[in-house]
Amino acid sequence: MQTVTNIAALREVVSQWRQAGLSVGFVPTMGNLHAGHIKLVNAAKQQTDKVVVSIFVNPTQFGPNEDFASYPRTEQQDREKLIASGADLLFLPPVAEMYPQAAQTGISVKGLSGLHCGASRPGHFDGVALVVCKLLNMVQPDLLLLGEKDFQQLTLIRQMVADLNIPVTVRGVATVREADGLAMSSRNGYLSEQHRQQAPKLYQALSAAQDAILAGNNDYPAVAEQQRQNLQQAGFAVDYFSICRSADLLPANAGDTDLLILLAARLGTTRLIDNIHFRKASA
Ligand code: PAF
Repeated sequence: MQTVTNIAALREVVSQWRQAGLSVGFVPTMGNLHAGHIKLVNAAKQQTDKVVVSIFVNPTQFGPNEDFASYPRTEQQDREKLIASGADLLFLPPVAEMYPQAAQTGISVKGLSGLHCGASRPGHFDGVALVVCKLLNMVQPDLLLLGEKDFQQLTLIRQMVADLNIPVTVRGVATVREADGLAMSSRNGYLSEQHRQQAPKLYQALSAAQDAILAGNNDYPAVAEQQRQNLQQAGFAVDYFSICRSADLLPANAGDTDLLILLAARLGTTRLIDNIHFRKASA
């Protein structure tokens, strides 16, 4: 696996592949790679000839009181995992390469960026949209792979790609879970032992809400409120617990069949998110 740290070198490698007629898959990450990221690399490898992975802890998507400085940076281990996974090129730019000066151009996917996580993390999704748009312009891949664990991010990037006619196919890849159901996330490493034991309750709450809906309960606000209370009682500070339409992430009505239940909750100072995407039979 080759590693490049500047945009010119990245473009040089990718253009040689292009001249050879090869297709390119791209997996953007912030590093601290786990099995969820490797699943994205594997999916890219199956679908394209060459795979580019970026590792960049993007400052513009962190709020002033968030964990940008302490976000885990594990370059050596990440590199080894990527070599083992068969990635072809690692793009590892310093902040000054990505943002030589503060960007004056912003990208805001209106509506979507203010919902759910966007409500409690103002500016977060504008930072995500900006960096993913820049990375797509740098790599110019055929295929972009993103994890479904960040379903709102995936939906927002799909919208941005459609709105701006960016010539890339976007695919979501299913969340990878620990044996006890906890969705894999770099932020799981912040959890104390006690909080780590409690954390699978998030997926249990999502599953219980899904079961209630599939059993015929169409009172979605009540289903959500029940699980919110269960989590609060179990010691979580619940940011949101929402039952939505997966297409636009707006509140689902009883007649909607393609559903997404998504949540964010804090255990101590660690904020975790998760979701379940499923279909119910139409009435
Ligand atoms: O999901 C992430 O790790 C980040 O939000 C992304 C897509 C790499 C943009 O910085």
